[in-house]
Amino acid sequence: MSKIIAIANQKGGVGKTTTAVNLGTALELSGSKVLLIDLDPQANMSAYLGYENDGKATMSDLVMTTANNFTMGAQKRDMPVMDECIRYSETNKVHFIPADIGLAYADACMMQAAQRESVLKFILSDKAVQEYDYVIIDCLPSLGILLINALSSADGVIIPVQTQKFALDGLDMLNEIYSQVKNTINSRIDIVGVLATMADNTNISRTVIEKLTDRYGEKMFGTCIHKSVEAANSSEKMKSLCLNKTKLGEEYKALAVEVRERIK
Ligand SMILES: Nc1ncnc2c1ncn2[C@@H]1O[C@H](COP(=O)(O)OP(=O)(O)OP(=O)(O)O)[C@@H](O)[C@H]1O
Ligand SMILES: [Mg+2]
Repeated sequence: MSKIIAIANQKGGVGKTTTAVNLGTALELSGSKVLLIDLDPQANMSAYLGYENDGKATMSDLVMTTANNFTMGAQKRDMPVMDECIRYSETNKVHFIPADIGLAYADACMMQAAQRESVLKFILSDKAVQEYDYVIIDCLPSLGILLINALSSADGVIIPVQTQKFALDGLDMLNEIYSQVKNTINSRIDIVGVLATMADNTNISRTVIEKLTDRYGEKMFGTCIHKSVEAANSSEKMKSLCLNKTKLGEEYKALAVEVRERIK
């Protein structure tokens, strides 16, 4: 059985995609089979992994078809074959399912679907997905139905928090949604950890880390990801930070060790 981890925070630009890609490749490098899922219509993770439209089915097709088939009275459609949806990034040595802008219509398509919060759970129950040790979902910056789907199918959630001004705004709302999902749809889910990202030497960065530690206690990861231009270079070169000896790559490898320990 795969362990499914959602990387979530509705705040934009906090390091979700960077964390999904680099935690994923770090876990893969240390011997696990990892599948990365792009659940964001911006498709930043797909681009990071070097994906270019190849005409084959993406997360959008999987979500749309499942939502259609969950809708009463709709004519059933054949699901895309999972093995064809899963791509391999030669450079990053990791498997992934790409997204595209079509995923922006997911909310509308799911409107009429019964159990619309369980569309992704159904998709990830495919035998081909269950063969991976870890499935890591890169969530979009929103509290909508796609996030609820990610939380409904996950064993754990990792919350990256950018250690800058306003970082804590909105965490209450995320906690609220998390609790609702845990109490009603998916009692299995747990917070794997809260990850401080883009940390630097400023007072605000230190204060945010202190506040997060007060609030989340041992749920805070010991590893903290520092601010470095390496992150932007890595996504531009479409190559994981963990494949070369980089400071952030070493931090993401340390995070992978913690994640492995916490999800046994
Ligand atoms: N540790 C870091 N140091 C400096 N820059 C970083 C770091 N991590 C990520 N970045 C940069 O910050 C920007 C946002 O990062 P990323 O795309 O991972 O965030 P996100 O939470 O996925 O954003 P979105 O909410 O839009 O999906 C990117 O330009 C990325 O290269
Ligand atoms: Mg992102």
